[in-house]
Amino acid sequence: RVLRGRPRDLAGRKVVVSAGGTREAIDPVRFIGNRSTGLQGYALAKTAAARGAEVTLVAANVALPDPAGAAIVRVESTAQLREAVLAASADADVVVMAAAVADFRPETRHDAKIKKTDGEPEAIRLVKNPDILAELGERRRAAPAAGNGSERPGAVLPRVIVGFAAETHDVLANGQAKLARKGCDLLVVNQVGEGLAFGTAGNAATVLVAGGEAVEVPFGPKEDLADVVWDLVAVRLP
Ligand code: CTP
Ligand code: CA
Repeated sequence: RVLRGRPRDLAGRKVVVSAGGTREAIDPVRFIGNRSTGLQGYALAKTAAARGAEVTLVAANVALPDPAGAAIVRVESTAQLREAVLAASADADVVVMAAAVADFRPETRHDAKIKKTDGEPEAIRLVKNPDILAELGERRRAAPAAGNGSERPGAVLPRVIVGFAAETHDVLANGQAKLARKGCDLLVVNQVGEGLAFGTAGNAATVLVAGGEAVEVPFGPKEDLADVVWDLVAVRLP
């Protein structure tokens, strides 16, 4: 799909997009993962590049062709995704966390494959992963108002932080609470569940804007939702 006729309104902007889903190792051959395919994140990276942005795409376990015009960093676990996103975000104008990040990881990773012959299986104890999106918001809040050590004096980076939320119920109420809790500027709220969002060609969403507004995006190609996100981002950049 050739992306034509887009404004070059992100020219000179550095954006970071995370995509896919993180995996947490149980042993060398097994992991806990999720159903994210990376399609929405890749659509965001593709459209941002088409609009002139310098794009870093942090891809967690995605089996899709490389999008044109984006630098790709491949990761597997949440710890690796966090490292890559925080490093790329240091001088970025915009960060979009489209990746489905594992909330929990096994407390211990077995060095050797767990064998059936070891007897009855042990329970897998889980511990919480760091919340990368909340950390980005927290860092920005803590940054001094003028100059935060970036190459662009006076800028508190990233200027715009976008989160995604997958909700199966009470979609809008949960989304509003999440937007406030994470300290992001935009939250793209999807209803997920049977046949919705994961792995499908299209997507429908409500984009919540910090401060009140809610933008409904009807079901359509994931590129269309991506363009709505970039429209909302572009007007928030100085
Ligand atoms: N996210 C993150 N780090 C995590 C978990 C989530 O950065 N450890 C980001 C996701 O990339 C997404 C947003 O936070 O942009 C919301 O993810 P979601 O799973 O909907 O929210 P949670 O805060 O994890 O809440 P819950 O899963 O309990 O609904
Ligand atoms: Ca979660």
